Amino acid sequence: MNTKKRWGFGPAEIRGPGSGFFVCGVAMSDDLTALREETDAALRDAADLRAWDAVRVGVLGKSGKLTALLKTLGQATPEERKERGAALNRLKEALSEAIEARRVELESAALEARLTAERIDITRPPRPRLTGAIHPISRTIEEMTAIFGAMGFSVAEGPDVEGDWHNFGALNIPAHHPARADHDTFYLPSEQEGAAPRVLRTHTSPVQIRTMLNAEPPIRIIAPGRTYRADHDATHSPMFHQCEGLVIGRGITLGHLKGTLIDFLRAFFGVPGLPVRFRASYFPFTEPSMEVDIGWNRKTGELGGGGDWLEILGSGMVQPKVLANCGIDPREWQGFAFGMGVERVTMLKHGIADLRPFYDSDLRWLRHYGFNPLAPVSLHEGV
Ligand code: PHE
Repeated sequence: MNTKKRWGFGPAEIRGPGSGFFVCGVAMSDDLTALREETDAALRDAADLRAWDAVRVGVLGKSGKLTALLKTLGQATPEERKERGAALNRLKEALSEAIEARRVELESAALEARLTAERIDITRPPRPRLTGAIHPISRTIEEMTAIFGAMGFSVAEGPDVEGDWHNFGALNIPAHHPARADHDTFYLPSEQEGAAPRVLRTHTSPVQIRTMLNAEPPIRIIAPGRTYRADHDATHSPMFHQCEGLVIGRGITLGHLKGTLIDFLRAFFGVPGLPVRFRASYFPFTEPSMEVDIGWNRKTGELGGGGDWLEILGSGMVQPKVLANCGIDPREWQGFAFGMGVERVTMLKHGIADLRPFYDSDLRWLRHYGFNPLAPVSLHEGV
């Protein structure tokens, strides 16, 4: 506690018997007393820091009133100067203290006002129950984006209505190739007489072609999106979703493909030691090609080391002809690609037995399987 007598706004003031003021027992002349009183009143009137600052400058500033008084000392006799100089210095000290004290007062008042204004009433009821939910398909695509995004992939898109060349030809599936028969394609009328028919894309692989045509390697993309095949039962829908992946670089090997997919599958299914098997297969647009299986238990449906295998996705090293079709020199660049069914992995992850309710818009199903929109996908929390 400061024991020095303070010249403030209250009990600390010491008034002498007459009209004169005493600061530390020395009488003050009238002009100093007037300045003190005037400043005192002005500080009291200053309702905020801006007004306070005007008072401060008006007293202590370069052309302030106290500064002006100090300047007059030069004309005084040495005798006067001694006494008046001491009085002025004490006044200056006292005024500075008073001004500072008012600043502290105004600042804490401002803080108090903010604290009151920003107070949160924790007794209020929580937000109303959300009526909407994120569809499991959207959730899976967000999770895939998060996992591959962390590996440096970006998301690419292409149209649902494709040209025959993008969907088949450029992917090394020529006109009379048997692979076309597997796709149960929906054909649309061609845009011009005699032109190749348009198709609803039967897979997301045409996005590989579009990406390679539009970007210089290196390339690292995934392409989630809608795909279409004329097929309908408990595990097939005429419209479904795939997620394509494409990596093009120098010296990309099968090892990169395997590492990427193993890491992804373990993160996505949340099973750290999930067994992953690569099995030789055939796709016209990859060479060699591999089907990827994960371990599970057929009886319990549990993912992991149950001794059974479940096919999850198709993959392979990009066939050199496909690179060449997109203007990429296969002697310089290599890469891998993969494609997986979004519904399929979603059903496996969440134990959903039937594909059809995904598109029935049944609110009971959506509420049950939907995700909280306020809990966005984040790798920090795990997916
Ligand atoms: N497009 C293939 C399919 O629909 C999947 C695939 C994509 C396979 C990329 C290999 C490479 O079955």
